[in-house]
Amino acid sequence: MAERVVLAYSGGLDTSVGIGWLKDATGKEVVALAIDVGQDGEDMDVVRQRALDCGAVESVVVDAKDEFANDYLMPALKANAKYQKQYPLVSALSRPLIAKYLAQTAQELGANSVAHGCTGKGNDQVRFEAAVTAIAPELTSIAPVRDLALTRDKAIVYAAEHNLPIEQSKKSPYSVDQNVWGRAVETGFLEDPWNAPIEDIYTYTKNPAEAGAPTEVIITFNQGIPVAIDGESVTPLQAVEIMNRLAGDQGVGRLDMVEDRLVGIKSREVYEAPGAIALIAAHEALEDLTVERDLARYKRGIEAKWSELVYDGLWFSGLKRALDVFIDESQKYVSGDVRLKLHAGTAVVTGRQSKQSLYDFELATYDTGDTFDQSLAKGFIDLWSLPSKIAARRDLAN
Ligand code: ARG
Repeated sequence: MAERVVLAYSGGLDTSVGIGWLKDATGKEVVALAIDVGQDGEDMDVVRQRALDCGAVESVVVDAKDEFANDYLMPALKANAKYQKQYPLVSALSRPLIAKYLAQTAQELGANSVAHGCTGKGNDQVRFEAAVTAIAPELTSIAPVRDLALTRDKAIVYAAEHNLPIEQSKKSPYSVDQNVWGRAVETGFLEDPWNAPIEDIYTYTKNPAEAGAPTEVIITFNQGIPVAIDGESVTPLQAVEIMNRLAGDQGVGRLDMVEDRLVGIKSREVYEAPGAIALIAAHEALEDLTVERDLARYKRGIEAKWSELVYDGLWFSGLKRALDVFIDESQKYVSGDVRLKLHAGTAVVTGRQSKQSLYDFELATYDTGDTFDQSLAKGFIDLWSLPSKIAARRDLAN
């Protein structure tokens, strides 16, 4: 039997042509694997059939939307995960899930390698390969676009010559990756970081300048996970989908940044992640109410580290797993309601309540009923600043 390779298949030009290229270059039979992570594009049956029409021996489609939301997006939400304080890790979160299915499918179907359509310049190649090797160290990874230097122009010629069923009209000047957590747009005129994004590139968000009346929404969390929206129970996936719609309609979650890629390049990235940005804002507000000071302060450093590890392709690493345990422990009391006002590009928290709230009205109030003993503050400050006082005396004497 010929050797087999499992290709992460998107249905687009590069991976469709990649099927033939892989076969020609390696002599291996190609199994196509398409993972539905809520990219919301073509019908997955069409994608599955296209892989066969392009020469795959088998074509597998997995609906992983709920798994993606439960096991990847919810940990990210609990971590308030943003790379460089902005990017909610949209693509970085889907890669380990896709890699897991690549490895699993390879093992099930007796393939000795996997393949992906990434170029050699991005983060995604690292994420796929690092995740695959962490799950199945015996597998090798092949990247036809990178390793065989297959350009887009060559792909178009190949597709035409071989009569592959790919619409040439679908040629977008941008490189786009999207899933239910958001959408990344790069290349084209955006490569000049001075060029402002144009309205055309957005599909998850409406123009915030044309937003209608504000939308108010109440999100209920249980231990860091959204469980209801406006009183209606939701699954994690539904929570993200509903918030994508509500926040997207108000133009919330557009980002424009210059990003430090793992491979050393600075790149200009435009994102839209309405649900992610709104949910993280709500989650952070509930943490402010329910997590004690020192844990909350320490967690901010953990959040940044977690985000960097995931960005850098180390989802399946010991450090990331250990940080997950810390983060889960921190979520024990993050339960309650947050009211968000979505309007014209902003998601603003206007209220929060929790049965586990640490906010004590009687301690906080400046009105009558105050139980905070202000006379204790004086002694506290004396001792708190004592080391500085002693050091200052020394500094002045020298
Ligand atoms: N720069 C982002 C990241 O590394 C987005 C990558 C998008 N991928 C793509 N093939 N367009 O996570």
